[in-house]
Amino acid sequence: MIVPAGGPLDTKLDELFRSGLSDQTEPKRRILYVTSEMSDFVKSGGLGDVSAALPRSLRALYDVRVLIPGYRQVLEERPDIEVVARLEAAYGLPACDLGRIASVDGLTIYVMLCSELYDREGSPYGDPTGTDWSDNDLRFGRLGLAAAQIASGLPDLGWRADLLHLNDWPSALAPAYLAWTGTPCPSVLTIHNLAYQGLFERHRLPTLGVPDSAFQIDGVEFHGKMSFLKAGIVYASHVTTVSQTYAREIQTPEFGCGLDGLLRRCQAEGRLTGILNGIDETWDPRTDAHLGSPFGLSDLKGKQVNADEVRRDFGLAVSRGPLFAVVSRLVHQKGVDLTIESTETIVRQGGQVVVTGRGEDRFESELETLSRRYPGQVGVRIGFDEGQARRMFAGSDFLLMPSRFEPCGLSQMYAQRMGSLPIARETGGLADTIEDGVTGFLFKDASLAAMLGAIYRAVDAYGSRRKLNGMRKAAMGRSFAWARSAAGYAGVYDRASTAVG
Ligand code: ADP
Ligand code: GLC
Repeated sequence: MIVPAGGPLDTKLDELFRSGLSDQTEPKRRILYVTSEMSDFVKSGGLGDVSAALPRSLRALYDVRVLIPGYRQVLEERPDIEVVARLEAAYGLPACDLGRIASVDGLTIYVMLCSELYDREGSPYGDPTGTDWSDNDLRFGRLGLAAAQIASGLPDLGWRADLLHLNDWPSALAPAYLAWTGTPCPSVLTIHNLAYQGLFERHRLPTLGVPDSAFQIDGVEFHGKMSFLKAGIVYASHVTTVSQTYAREIQTPEFGCGLDGLLRRCQAEGRLTGILNGIDETWDPRTDAHLGSPFGLSDLKGKQVNADEVRRDFGLAVSRGPLFAVVSRLVHQKGVDLTIESTETIVRQGGQVVVTGRGEDRFESELETLSRRYPGQVGVRIGFDEGQARRMFAGSDFLLMPSRFEPCGLSQMYAQRMGSLPIARETGGLADTIEDGVTGFLFKDASLAAMLGAIYRAVDAYGSRRKLNGMRKAAMGRSFAWARSAAGYAGVYDRASTAVG
């Protein structure tokens, strides 16, 4: 559903939220939002942004608290963590302390303090070279168990979750622990990306406390291995994914990553729902402090200033041609190979390309080769800097996002808000958030020919100021309000709670 900002639905949601705030006679339901990344501290992609925004948006209706592992980035950012409870050891998983902090805006965040598992240099999932930690089953099994322990009630904590909201494979073992320990707490699992499943060898079962009886096709077994994500899908009261189209796609063999049969069953049981992500209010070109020059719907002039700044930053030549941006993890999912292949044509058409992100070595080095081949026309920055990413959205004319699959995608929403028109494959959340020919350009096949077709349409639009500015304004006016998603989750929380009784 593609909706303009400020429409009747937004007004209705505002009312719902206001009544949620004022008519609250009963105590708010307690939701524990469990995540392996949160952009307040550390993120490797969109999950970090969602985990920072959605719990905050849900606070109008619920007593929402977040649970994250005590990574080094969290400990460094917040040396003031107060220890509030002890999480006992179980199976082969170590004991740890549970810490608590409050964010500046008053969100309670529980932090698992376990230096042997989390206090390391690197990303949430791997070392600085990008290699996954070899004990990720313990690290994230411990996270799922902590969530279940909090749901079952910790004597010292004085707070107990009425519902667990889990995200992706790293927290997906929590619903299984609830089932195996007979803890009657409803749970919702959100799949942000079905392609990452958390697969581990069978011999790890006892360490994780997985009963032998659960190692079967209707349980946690997946082709001879143990799958964290499958466990979550099997045992959660409700499963959501981050767009409606992706919820349909994952029920097909093409997108189902071997779990499509199980997901079709979920759908038949009324346990699967697609809820589109939103973007938070910091994405506003009128007020974003990262931008060299603010701009808005009524005055687009500042966009040019930002474009010039991006060109300077990336060492590109002065140009009045179109500027294409890529802000992405550099992985197969994102169709980086198609972007690389299309670059020569873009340059020949008088366009320039700026790329930032990190990921697979081969893509990083092929992109760097391109920037050497086309100095002044192609700029590449391996790494990630939030301010730079925002300036790229604001300064570019088009965003390239030829994803092979895209559960939701945030970059295309950020780009639209900043008046950069996405050129994207018609899949998942891209199909649900981009209106072809109105706010961006969609193409169907994951082929160079199809992508170039969309690029030519974009270059054509660029040739007509009237058309271009009309599309920019349409894109910038689209609503991607978190309140809408929060209302969707409220419905799912009710269903999950009814299911558990
Ligand atoms: P995904 O989560 O699959 O990477 P999204 O479109 O949902 O894709 O989220 C992309 C957002 O994640 C970008 O807009 C940017 O804010 C952030 N991002 C992209 N690449 C990186 C990176 N290498 N490190 C940290 N954040 C990144
Ligand atoms: C995943 C998906 C992306 C989605 C993000 C946040 O990383 O790849 O499409 O936007 O999660 O839900």
